[in-house]
Amino acid sequence: MPATTPPPDTLPPYGGLMAQTAVSPAPTSEKNASGTCGSRNPSPAIIDTLARPLHDLRISVTDRCNFRCPYCMPKTVFGRDYPFLARTELLSFEEIERVASAAVACGVRKLRITGGEPLLRKHLPRLIERLARLPVELTLTTNGVLLARNAQDLRNAGLNRVTVSLDALDDAIFRRMNDADARVTEVLAGIDAAAAAGLSPVKINCVAQRGVNDGEILPLAEHFRGTGHILRFIEYMDVGSSNGWRMDEVVTARDILERIGARHPLEAIEAAYPGEVAERWRYRDGSGEIGVIASVTQAFCRDCTRLRLSTDGTLYTCLFSSHGKDIRGLLRGGASDDELRSAIGAQWSARSDRYSELRQSGQPVIRKIEMSYIGG
Ligand code: GTP
Ligand code: 5AD
Ligand code: SF4
Ligand code: SF4
Repeated sequence: MPATTPPPDTLPPYGGLMAQTAVSPAPTSEKNASGTCGSRNPSPAIIDTLARPLHDLRISVTDRCNFRCPYCMPKTVFGRDYPFLARTELLSFEEIERVASAAVACGVRKLRITGGEPLLRKHLPRLIERLARLPVELTLTTNGVLLARNAQDLRNAGLNRVTVSLDALDDAIFRRMNDADARVTEVLAGIDAAAAAGLSPVKINCVAQRGVNDGEILPLAEHFRGTGHILRFIEYMDVGSSNGWRMDEVVTARDILERIGARHPLEAIEAAYPGEVAERWRYRDGSGEIGVIASVTQAFCRDCTRLRLSTDGTLYTCLFSSHGKDIRGLLRGGASDDELRSAIGAQWSARSDRYSELRQSGQPVIRKIEMSYIGG
């Protein structure tokens, strides 16, 4: 497995200190190159054509959201008449559980519930209860507005952790970025409730966009320093086809680290697990850690272990895929668990995706699926 943290010699010092040697841990799970998933749970991870093991399944439970972040669901595209999926098109909780269980038999050890906004899905704790029976880490990514009222139920149902998106501390900037009148205090209350319920460490994701919220980078860092929460900055990506992405709007991970490190010296730390998307850094004074997700400037495809299940039951092997495998058709056509496992195993072992690496080398792609549908 290649190193997941960037080679130390490519990292500049931040705050006048050289980056520490960061060595990625050895892969912990066994690998399975046979192309056939096990029948027991858990089983060794199946590997793809680039020898990447299947480890995570990201499950989108709704394509709807109560925000209209212009970089994800701009109102001009996702307006009143947008044809969101009908109820019957969504996978039921039972169907999701069957897919998740088959994926665990193919090596999956981590499930992430996403959307859209997953807390808009009715009775979500009932799904969490089902999935918590599997031998996996169970996590959820949310915009946080509905978290305060749901955190304890989610925890009681067996959720392990949450990641909350928060792009600004300034209310005016935040409102511009969610385009739905959501307030910073609502999200902060969600974060507090999650921590109080034991859904920790709470991770906070901020998408940094030049000219929009780059002035919020330092205030966010200072707000979350010393709280035990892990703030991560994501480079603005060209997901989907709606956000009119431009490279000059990307605030690079290097730029972010320089801005924070100049005020609060930082040093690199090891990845928590092989294939972790965030590069981890800690404050030299011991006041906690931050992360940067450099998916544009330092593609991490060679360690990519993530499979994605869309709201309507299509499996995608890349965030930037233009087509996937229709699992709902199999489920509703009466497929056995064995057939589900074979379908997942066949799809993963044929996989060769590395979109972000190709983007870096300037290659074009065709149509891409919207992030709110495929799940962040
Ligand atoms: P933890 O480390 O367990 O918290 O999980 P995570 O970092 O995988 O989860 P999270 O959903 O917070 O992912 C952070 C962000 O990284 C996502 O929202 C995406 O923006 C980005 N990301 C995650 N996976 C991929 C990937 O496979 N490819 C690309 N290009 N970006 C990804
Ligand atoms: N680029 C980077 N991150 C994005 N997210 C949504 N759209 C983009 C994009 N274009 C983030 C959200 C959330 C996570 C699920 O993905 O802000 O934190
Ligand atoms: Fe914003 Fe997340 Fe909703 Fe997209 S899914 S509009 S990023 S809150
Ligand atoms: Fe994985 Fe595709 Fe993201 Fe590369 S671009 S890390 S292959 S999801």
